[in-house]
Amino acid sequence: MYKIVLLPGDGIGNEVTASAVEIIKTVSKYFNVEIQLEEHLIGGSSYDKYGTPITDETLSACYNSDAVFLGAVGGFKWDNLPHQLKPEAALLKLRKALGLFANIRPAKIYRPLLDSSTLKKEVLENVDFIVLRELTSGIYFGEPRMFDDMHGLNTMIYHKEEVERIAKIAFKIARERNKKVTSVDKANVLEVSQFWRNVVHQVHKEFEDVQLSDMYVDNAAMQIVRNPKQFDVILTSNLFGDILSDIAGMITGSLGMLPSASLGTKYSLYEPVHGSAPDIAGQNKANPLAAIASVAMMFDYSFGLKSAANLINEAISKSLEENFRTTDIYSKGCQLVSTNEMTKSVIEKFEELFHSQAIGVFTL
Ligand code: IPM
Ligand code: MN
Repeated sequence: MYKIVLLPGDGIGNEVTASAVEIIKTVSKYFNVEIQLEEHLIGGSSYDKYGTPITDETLSACYNSDAVFLGAVGGFKWDNLPHQLKPEAALLKLRKALGLFANIRPAKIYRPLLDSSTLKKEVLENVDFIVLRELTSGIYFGEPRMFDDMHGLNTMIYHKEEVERIAKIAFKIARERNKKVTSVDKANVLEVSQFWRNVVHQVHKEFEDVQLSDMYVDNAAMQIVRNPKQFDVILTSNLFGDILSDIAGMITGSLGMLPSASLGTKYSLYEPVHGSAPDIAGQNKANPLAAIASVAMMFDYSFGLKSAANLINEAISKSLEENFRTTDIYSKGCQLVSTNEMTKSVIEKFEELFHSQAIGVFTL
């Protein structure tokens, strides 16, 4: 039996988590996996109720989980709170507390969405890469940090073992893919980046079957929109990965399509990259596909059920092939659907796919 902690959070986080839950229940039924779901508050909704964006209760539930699913945190309402009380602070605290140092954000183009992207079809065809973002260190967590009326200060620092462990993951992932790692830094200006680059090259000595190249982050931002096919695994630090993964999200047609997994040695957390989108919250308009694809990653990485993950992803593709579109990915001639309708469609396709295959193969 697996225990999943659900943290819907704020804004559309609630709606897409509801979609994720329906998919989880569907997989649980068809694959005979017993799953226990436990829901807790995080972000602005936790602040409103308890005066803190994350309570000890939420944290300890996560410590007792097999996987965490997070919707999204943040919203205009809480933008002016002091730093440590902002909804975002909860997510950062959670990542650190659970040791989730490896953030995987796959940017894969779904063929039916080739027309939804702002980029040209020829540029997008067959794009399939992963942004591997270091998630528990770098400038997000470096000390000292402060601001007053006259100064603002953060510290970008990496320790050797932090770079080593994320670099190892990058090479291991690349080994299972196209054996190419692009390490992104700003070594022409920042000492911390030169250090990053040196350590990545040291680690590479154990992975010489994988090709390693370095790229400056400004160039990488340009290359992702100029020729994204060149990438396989982009390995980068916390801040650069934050920025590059949003760019990568647009390659898929919409940020509403980009799932993520955050992994550590003991815990794992899955979340759509898109954020809380307060402007469309509560309107049944949000695209649930990033959340649903995050559930697929959960079944793959945390529960070792790759076949379930594949089926979920195929069901997403099929829904898109039948031209179902939420507003963010809508293009002319397609059928505009709500969050619920899209979720329902994915479940139907999942069931169809399941029945069209040999059922016995999937039991545990
Ligand atoms: C992300 C988000 C977070 C980040 C915020 C919400 C703290 O933008 O997961 O990319 O900056 O890491
Ligand atoms: Mn971000």
